[in-house]
Amino acid sequence: MARQLDEQISGRFPVGQRLRVLDVGMGQGTQALRLARAGHQVTGVEQDPKMVSVARAALSGEPEGIRERMRIIEGDGRDTGVHFLPGSFDVVLCHGVLMYVEEPDALLAGLARMLAPGGLLSLLVRNGDALAMRPGLSGDWAGALGAFDTVSYTNRLGLEVRADRLDALTATLAGIGAPLHAWYGVRVFTDTAADGAEIPADVEALLAAEERAGRTDPYRRVAALLHLCGVRG
Ligand SMILES: C[S@@+](CC[C@H](N)C(=O)[O-])C[C@H]1O[C@@H](n2cnc3c(N)ncnc32)[C@H](O)[C@@H]1O
Repeated sequence: MARQLDEQISGRFPVGQRLRVLDVGMGQGTQALRLARAGHQVTGVEQDPKMVSVARAALSGEPEGIRERMRIIEGDGRDTGVHFLPGSFDVVLCHGVLMYVEEPDALLAGLARMLAPGGLLSLLVRNGDALAMRPGLSGDWAGALGAFDTVSYTNRLGLEVRADRLDALTATLAGIGAPLHAWYGVRVFTDTAADGAEIPADVEALLAAEERAGRTDPYRRVAALLHLCGVRG
């Protein structure tokens, strides 16, 4: 995931350019901090005050140069127009958030407006075309059968949320002026691994296999998550 994002960033922007990055639904800020450490100017927006505190605590432990490059705003990702001017960012991330948003098109249109021409919109969503894979590979046949004709699912936190289909998102991205430029599957082979499972000794080979499958048809189509990259025209 991080490797795919870096690949898209380095393919679009000159090496060493300090990019203006907006991370919507930043959670504890892992990705945002990584990009700030890499020299970019990062703004994180997060609606959960607990997550904001965790992200602020993590940032406070960073050297001054990195602290100065990162800003954290407590707020709703649907309100970016209140905080920023259109075209203010080179890269907008929205990772693991869309499933919680009832009407994603308005959020996405707002995020596309935040991008400067040529800017990158990076989305990580649950793959609505392959919801039967997780129950099916776990031997939950009733669950698998029930997952074919729906885009709702119960996530690992027990919340009823929504997955998104590749075709629908492709059409949305085209309609909001940030057409799909590249996409990847994420968690093709490892989706059924237990939370907190021990890291295997051959983790490098595992990551290489995931990485390869994530960019190869047909494997990427049945990944648990999709990483979509749109580019502002
Ligand atoms: C699964 S976490 C993902 C965190 C991080 N982006 C990552 O990839 O690790 C989803 C986060 O999105 C936040 N979120 C959900 N809806 C949001 C909204 N409308 N505006 C801002 N944050 C939101 C949640 O509070 C949560 O912290």
